[in-house]
Amino acid sequence: MAAVEQLGTWQRTHDCCTLTREHIDQRVTLMGWVSRRRDHGGVIFIDLRDRQGITQVVFNPQHDPASHAKAEDLRPEYVIAVQGRVESRPEGMVNPRLPTGEIEVNCDALRVLNTSVPPPFHLEDGLTINEEVRLRYRYLDLRRPVMLGNMRRRHHAYRTTRSFLDAEGFIEVETPFLIRSTPEGARDYLVPSRVHPGSFFALPQSPQTYKQLLMVAGFERYYQIVKCFRDEDLRADRQPEFTQIDIEMSFVREDDVMATAEALTRRLFQDILETRLEDPFPRLTYAEAMDRYGSDKPDLRFALELRDIGAAASASEFKVFHGVLASGGQVKGINVKQGSQMPRSQLDDLIGFAQRLGARGMAWIKHTETGLESSIAKFFPEQARQLLIQAMDSRPGDLLLFIADQPAAVARILGALRLELASRLQLIDQKTWRPVWITHFPLLEFDADAGRYAAMHHPFTSPMEDDMALLDSAPERVRARAYDLVLNGNEVAGGSIRIFRKDVQSRVFSLLDITPEEAAGKFGFLLDALEYGAPPHGGIAFGFDRLVAMLCGETSIRDVIAFPKTNKAVGLMESAPGPADPNQLRELGLRMATPPS
Ligand code: AMO
Repeated sequence: MAAVEQLGTWQRTHDCCTLTREHIDQRVTLMGWVSRRRDHGGVIFIDLRDRQGITQVVFNPQHDPASHAKAEDLRPEYVIAVQGRVESRPEGMVNPRLPTGEIEVNCDALRVLNTSVPPPFHLEDGLTINEEVRLRYRYLDLRRPVMLGNMRRRHHAYRTTRSFLDAEGFIEVETPFLIRSTPEGARDYLVPSRVHPGSFFALPQSPQTYKQLLMVAGFERYYQIVKCFRDEDLRADRQPEFTQIDIEMSFVREDDVMATAEALTRRLFQDILETRLEDPFPRLTYAEAMDRYGSDKPDLRFALELRDIGAAASASEFKVFHGVLASGGQVKGINVKQGSQMPRSQLDDLIGFAQRLGARGMAWIKHTETGLESSIAKFFPEQARQLLIQAMDSRPGDLLLFIADQPAAVARILGALRLELASRLQLIDQKTWRPVWITHFPLLEFDADAGRYAAMHHPFTSPMEDDMALLDSAPERVRARAYDLVLNGNEVAGGSIRIFRKDVQSRVFSLLDITPEEAAGKFGFLLDALEYGAPPHGGIAFGFDRLVAMLCGETSIRDVIAFPKTNKAVGLMESAPGPADPNQLRELGLRMATPPS
């Protein structure tokens, strides 16, 4: 192993991305990591890497025997400083893929600043590296240029966000992390108080209540790039701690908040990807989105819309369809254009896919030049056939797939089938961006397990003014002044106009089965504040990690977070969470009910 030396008075003159033909004959000092070492018949070549790029360094025994001898010991990820002259690469050795590919540094002095044990993976291997290993050695993973590139892009997104919102008159305000719970539908992370044994803080699921209080305080335009904490089931687009661009505005309606969020999104895509997003973003109501796409976050990059064939099903003699319609269900289908040649095995695969989602079956019809082919075609007399072809906008060559069930199940199954078909048939143009606003969400959803209503967005969301009268008679039909921004099928932001009157807020709490005592205990401060001249207000929050992942072309938000948790909410590198020290527990007045296994 090489002896480690002092840096001494050496000063870096350039980074590893800068040197070109213009620097030929200059003497330079570079510092960085050994990315690769090649020994070509006595001459040693090092790819020297720093955060800017790579420069080739040559150790020639004829030119400088001492540094050549030292270079024999260099290994990947050693940290070195080199001095030498910039030279033109010999004929045939130019690397057009590197900005520094026309030159090399002929080394005449080498200092080994630190050694490295062999890394657990080659930094150049990219996606073939197992993610667990990457997360365990995240500091090495982050050395990979693609990861550094992602983090730079994230930095760019912070910068653009701050400068855009600043120019729009927003004030950045920090809100506390040690709080009383803010409900966003997930479990809280709790923090025990040592000073008040038996009492707990919650980490914020979002700064929702605080940003509303800042509106009561008269700030009018607030924003914060802020961490949120939610103990929920994780996926590629969910982390237990994640970042929001959180925004709140006073004296506004839906259109004002949406216009601001839309302009910010457009600016981010323009600044970072030099891409123009459509202007304005299209809008769909929740009801339309569910009807046409079976999802409240529809991916509009491809068609495959859901079509209702209720009339054709009624005119048919197919008992299964009749039964479902009679019980208040729906029959809907997807037209796979030019899909009639799909082999039976693939069709069976799709049926299996639908069944795993809870479908009792999936009917299909192939529309060929000679007519409709299917085991159920015989149940469709001519009139029903014509209705079906019309409803499905079907032409010879198409494949029609149908689900009959209650509306929620039809949407869930066909919505998922739509995505599956698009991916299997490669219908998604990966280079397009299709934003869409979803509006007019229901205020409430019925939580069958708990036997009560839950807020679909959060309990501070205002009902639509036109629907106020339904709060008593038909709460499930009340629509909310809520909106989500969806981009290529991902929910990137969500927000609403808030309740700003105490009586309405108390009414909604009671619909949610939150008793006045509970409301006073948990949200008394907000209810009190609403009595002191709260202005009408509303806001939105972007899932910043999701947005950045899209801007980086990544599918997992873990690839744009410096130190993410695994899908099991574990920090693999630092082994968090871990057991607490018994003394700490004692100080907090806590005892484990069951010892950890
Ligand atoms: P909401 O709960 O919809 O709204 O969250 C806003 C956005 O945050 C992102 N997001 C997440 N990202 C990563 N990991 C998670 N676990 C996670 N959960 C949510 C999503 C989502 O659209 N206070 C309200 C906003 C408001 O009403 O102004 C709120 O938090 O992209």
